[in-house]
Amino acid sequence: MSFEGAEVLARPGESVAAALLGRDSAATRTTPVSGAGRTPFCMMGVCFDCLVTIDGLPNVQACMVEAREGMVIRRQHGARRIGKGS
Ligand code: FES
Repeated sequence: MSFEGAEVLARPGESVAAALLGRDSAATRTTPVSGAGRTPFCMMGVCFDCLVTIDGLPNVQACMVEAREGMVIRRQHGARRIGKGS
């Protein structure tokens, strides 16, 4: 899979969030208010700090999705734009 255009390796059964935490720059999203980076934290679907765009679908909790070959993952920036796709 790739994150922001860079190849990311994942072990079988690993979540997208776990694979991304293994990178040097693990920020998966920015906050709507300050733009600060956030990284996966709870790893169980509670904190929403792991939101990413996967294959063009925004607002995906990376900790709830199993990593698969070929996934294209992008950092999610700011607040969700309803009806605009991201
Ligand atoms: S890491 Fe907390 S919801 Fe995914």
